Amino acid sequence: MPVKRKPSPASQTLTGQLLISDTPGRMSLQPGTLHVVDGVIEEIQLGEIDANASLGDDRTLICPGLIDTHVHLPQFDVIGAHGMPLLRWLDEVIFPAEILWNDTDFAKRMTQRVIGQCLSVGTTGVAAYATSCHGSTMDALHAFHETGMHALVGQVLMDRGGPAALCHDPTQLIEETQQTLDAFPPGSRVQAAVTPRFALACSAELMASAGKLAAEASAYVQTHLAETRAECERVSELFPDRRYTEVYADAGLLSERSLLGHGIFMDEQDHRLLASSGAIVAHCPTANSFLQSGVMNRAQLMQSGVRMTLGSDVGAGYQRSMIRVAQGMIEAASQITMRRAEGIHGGQQVSGVSPEPAAETPSAPEAWYQITTGNADALGWSDVGRIAVGATADLLVIRPELDWLAGPVDPLSRLLFSWDDRWLRATLLNGAVRWSDREFVDHEFADRSYSKPQRDR
Ligand code: GUN
Ligand code: ZN
Repeated sequence: MPVKRKPSPASQTLTGQLLISDTPGRMSLQPGTLHVVDGVIEEIQLGEIDANASLGDDRTLICPGLIDTHVHLPQFDVIGAHGMPLLRWLDEVIFPAEILWNDTDFAKRMTQRVIGQCLSVGTTGVAAYATSCHGSTMDALHAFHETGMHALVGQVLMDRGGPAALCHDPTQLIEETQQTLDAFPPGSRVQAAVTPRFALACSAELMASAGKLAAEASAYVQTHLAETRAECERVSELFPDRRYTEVYADAGLLSERSLLGHGIFMDEQDHRLLASSGAIVAHCPTANSFLQSGVMNRAQLMQSGVRMTLGSDVGAGYQRSMIRVAQGMIEAASQITMRRAEGIHGGQQVSGVSPEPAAETPSAPEAWYQITTGNADALGWSDVGRIAVGATADLLVIRPELDWLAGPVDPLSRLLFSWDDRWLRATLLNGAVRWSDREFVDHEFADRSYSKPQRDR
């Protein structure tokens, strides 16, 4: 299908406090001015605020667009189904919501709304699950392409453990996934992913075919791993004598392109297997808390050499904003630290907590790094998630309604913890404003210009 997209404005100048990384793993702020030409950052003048810039001023934060590495598109309308553990929540809330996507018109309209919501909270790139419906997945891939977002989107593979309306024949699912990969190949700005839902929804045959397909196509794999104890017990029943991580390894699903959601209930042997495979655990703290699944020990996994990203996991996650998910990451780390301090876990009882290593609570500069450069790098997206010459201008214009640069608190910490969604004034994709605080700028009227925020002091 030919895709029409409005061109980005030929050139733009943005000025303000730039969120950049001058130390690996951390962000910092520097005043500066960016020149964007044809959607790409062509020049950065650090130390200079340009009073004539088209966007920003000395109190504006210019931030790389945020990347969400685990999100479910059809679940945005069922955020908030509280009080159920994972497996019951899937049966009663999620599977019915995903069946609605068998109607491709419904799914198309919903995808547009979801994209608008992502842009309105500053998310410019996603690794997303669609549903097992091939047509709706294809439409979602096209919708991301038309909007200009960076996206990894997978047709969900399920051949058991769910309603008949969602489970399909494994051969058909693999053929359909192949078609998504042909149309949106790995390496493109919008790319398909091989997405077996989890071991409880996939036969060994389906997982093995999925692993083979992903390896042949060099595609990313998305799945869920060890999110709740009940899930892990059920996996042990279905795959006797195999660890959950081994079930995926046996199927060829673990590589440096594997994104595994949650990964709470694991031991050191699992961590070693994941670390040696290069697989990535997408930490979803707000979802873990919402479904009361457990507290993930991020620091412990990182010490074992496991690569980590951060995801909203909407709709188990109740926060669409990656800034709020970053708050959740720090809160989860604090839970681990407090439990250790209180000696609660003592090697047992508390889920996902090991007694040994120190749980390091990520700092705000590390959290900002995770939701920008860290998440982008894990997805192999070296052109986004950063302010750098040659990077794509997927950028946020943020105007905090407080004197955020003054006072004793580190500005990045103050911004993170006192975050107000209304401070986001504009989201740019490829240098063009695609969302502003007034509205989602649909591609049909993407030439609507965004006027500079007024000084309010
Ligand atoms: N495990 C399998 N499917 C899902 C899902 O949709 N959400 C979450 N949080 N966990 C899952
Ligand atoms: Zn998920």
